[in-house]
Amino acid sequence: MGTLALNAWETTCMKYLTTSQIRQLFLDFFHEHGHEIVASSSLVPENDPTLLLTNAGMNQFKDVFLGIEKRPYKRATTAQKCMRVSGKHNDLENVGPSPRHHTFFEMLGNFSFGDYFKQDAIRFAWQLLVEELGLPLERLWFTVYEDDAEAERLWIETGADPARVLRFGKKDNWWAMGDTGPCGPCSEIHYYWGDLAVQSAKGVNKDDEYLEIWNLVFMQYDAKPDGTLVPLPAPSVDTGAGLERLASILQGKDNNYDTDAFTPIMNRIQQLAGHNDAQRAEHLFRYRAIADHARACTFMIGDGVLPGNEGRQYVLRMILRRAARFGKIIGFDRPFLALVADTVIDEMGRHYTDLIPKRDYILQTITDEEERFHRTLVNGLRILDNLMAKMRDEGRKQISGQEAFFLWDTFGFPIDLTRDIAQDNGFTIDEIGFREALAEQKEKSRATAVEKLGEDVSTYAEHFRQLQAEGVIDLTGVRYRIYESLAETDATVAAIFVEGQPVAEASVGQAVEILLPETVFYVETGGQVSDTGEIYYWPENLDEPVWVVQVTDMRRPVPGMILHVGAVTSGTVKVGDPAEAVIDTVRRWDIMRNHTATHILHAALRERFGSHVHQAGSLVAPDRLRFDFTYGQALSDEDIAAIERRANAIILENYPVNTRWTTYNQAISEGVTALFTEKYGNEVRVVSFGEEEGISAELCGGTHVDSTAEVGPFLVINEGSVAAGVRRMEVVTGRVAEATIEERLAALDAIAALTHSKPADAADAVRELLTENQALQKELTQLRQKLARQEAQALLDRAERVDGFSVLAVRVPAADVDTLRQMTDWFRDKLGSSVVAVGAVIDNKPLIVAAVTDDLVSRGMHAGNIVRDAAKLMGGGGGGRPTLAQAGGRDASQLDEALHSIASWVKTNLK
Ligand code: ALA
Repeated sequence: MGTLALNAWETTCMKYLTTSQIRQLFLDFFHEHGHEIVASSSLVPENDPTLLLTNAGMNQFKDVFLGIEKRPYKRATTAQKCMRVSGKHNDLENVGPSPRHHTFFEMLGNFSFGDYFKQDAIRFAWQLLVEELGLPLERLWFTVYEDDAEAERLWIETGADPARVLRFGKKDNWWAMGDTGPCGPCSEIHYYWGDLAVQSAKGVNKDDEYLEIWNLVFMQYDAKPDGTLVPLPAPSVDTGAGLERLASILQGKDNNYDTDAFTPIMNRIQQLAGHNDAQRAEHLFRYRAIADHARACTFMIGDGVLPGNEGRQYVLRMILRRAARFGKIIGFDRPFLALVADTVIDEMGRHYTDLIPKRDYILQTITDEEERFHRTLVNGLRILDNLMAKMRDEGRKQISGQEAFFLWDTFGFPIDLTRDIAQDNGFTIDEIGFREALAEQKEKSRATAVEKLGEDVSTYAEHFRQLQAEGVIDLTGVRYRIYESLAETDATVAAIFVEGQPVAEASVGQAVEILLPETVFYVETGGQVSDTGEIYYWPENLDEPVWVVQVTDMRRPVPGMILHVGAVTSGTVKVGDPAEAVIDTVRRWDIMRNHTATHILHAALRERFGSHVHQAGSLVAPDRLRFDFTYGQALSDEDIAAIERRANAIILENYPVNTRWTTYNQAISEGVTALFTEKYGNEVRVVSFGEEEGISAELCGGTHVDSTAEVGPFLVINEGSVAAGVRRMEVVTGRVAEATIEERLAALDAIAALTHSKPADAADAVRELLTENQALQKELTQLRQKLARQEAQALLDRAERVDGFSVLAVRVPAADVDTLRQMTDWFRDKLGSSVVAVGAVIDNKPLIVAAVTDDLVSRGMHAGNIVRDAAKLMGGGGGGRPTLAQAGGRDASQLDEALHSIASWVKTNLK
């Protein structure tokens, strides 16, 4: 491992470049050839339920390839943050042992959206690799799809040796983003880094020495869920070159981890571990995995992912815990990964500058999760050890799916960890059983949102495309007029869907989805909920509408296709009918107030706690707003009051709320706040207020009031924690705040009236009442005790004198056995030499406790016998010691009789 033996000619021809220089050179090269340099999109794909994490440069352009989205350019180039840890493209298991695979990596790409095709794509790649970077021709191999004679010819015409252009089948030379979506034949460039003497065409796509460095995809089709291939609106180009791999070649290394992208990270691990070089070499694979995972965790958290148990949150947790586990093996006994990530941010922050202000947040999130993992490990390992010991006793070799699931579900013990530990100890896991258990649990807790994710939208997409082809709907999709008009649209019904199928008409009572060529109804995005309202057809000469559809929700099953979801409440709606669509403006005003209030709250939070406080999620509904933000501790009452005061001050200042359109890069360079989980197109909208946008400027597509005063009163009604490091605030504004305040004032007025005070003095008045009440309580207790003593005294007087001692058998008002016993003791102490029996009905059962003083035992008195005989009269039994005993019965009506019998018992048994 280490540096490659290149011959002298090769080293002179090839440029040595750092990873940053390669990235820049690539972008500049394509920029010079008419490509727009577009920023990397987030690792969290927006609006693409088919994808967990961004896995290729083309993801952000998926809709552009499909012809659904238009951009102001036809050529683009990017350096894209990618992850390959799930679904069709998953490299996780390779990371560590493989010198070339990563979970997180950067993909360099150039794209043509219906502009140039194969010829230019091939020419650009050749120029860059051979002419600019000087890669030696005798090390390059070119592969094409088996049917693609055109690409083969083009490579040869461009200068490739025909013997070095090879045809491969679908497995190697057909690229698809996932099971559905854009795809097409591709052509790959491979670099041979081994000994020239043993190079051969047979090694391509087979041996490690032949490294795939660049993939040119000739995008031609949209793969449908049923497997059919529908041609794209125009043949396009999508390419991807692994930046880390290019760096290894240009820096003469036989693995990516020895390039300048990784050495600072690898060195940092070594320094933290206190290892010498031999120790580092011994743990090489673990070092690599830790370095790779530290990058992945840094970028995922930076893009707003938090560790968790589902979807991409689980991916983050799994990668982070995998790194933590390797860390443990190489000798770290406390959280260390944040210290490695710190170096990642130092290195990568130079290009991905948004990492810098998020540093504390990223590092803290990593450490929190590592600590959680250590706690999990301790618990889980104990359980797993016990389980394996038990299995050895039983001669069992396989951990059942249920057992593995239990560890996962109850202790958060990762399945891959269970698998590794099981393997180390000679056991296997029933993986299928585990997945079944997991699926069963998911089934139980499945939310509607998840169901929607799995929806097959192909019928909608097809019908929509058809309407676009016919010119009923614009090629860019439904005209979304939310910023133009608040109230209504005049349009023609373009389509009606019932149960997912297009129909010609629908009548009263039917649930429908209505498609119009344009709409003013807002579709839920960025936390703001969808509009509701009505669509109807009402010719002027009629007294009532021909039909009405109540709109209760909005959705966008396919990009650009906006549907009004609701039900026909009168008449029959037909495709082609004129229609007027009117939103519920009262409700929309409530929503707009809350949306502007969300920005006000965000600004007030950042003013108070610093700009590292980030929005982590929000809900903007008509009745309230919910705002989640990253902050490590609970807010004090003073914090909340101060934030509320500041928000109301911003409102009263009545700043105009301004909106403007600009480019993403321009907005970011001006310091506009962008959420790290959102994907933004090239044209972005900035919503701002305050002098020179001084209070708030955020990227936002939502709808807002015109000036801050329109928000009305701002009232915090809740504050709490939602997850580690994330707080949630709930706020009401406008009409709801007014109603809430009114309600609270009315309650206060009522209290004031009841305490005969003014509202401002009501608290004092109540406090006074409470003090008075306490004093009264105390007095009452004393009086009760006094009364009880008097009653007891009266009972004492009923004691009979028998032969020099007292006999007392009475019913008392005791509510429990303890009181009964205490009273027995008290009577006995007062009477001296005596036989005492006390009875009461407790829980509908008669009960008697009896006590006999020691001196009378020798004279035949016996508490146990007394209660036993008495209880018989009540249909029960019991007994006990001669001096103290207790017995119960069933018939409460016989209690007095039983007590009465005791005096004669004493006389009869007295010696
Ligand atoms: N999208 C192609 C890939 O990821 C370029 O390989």
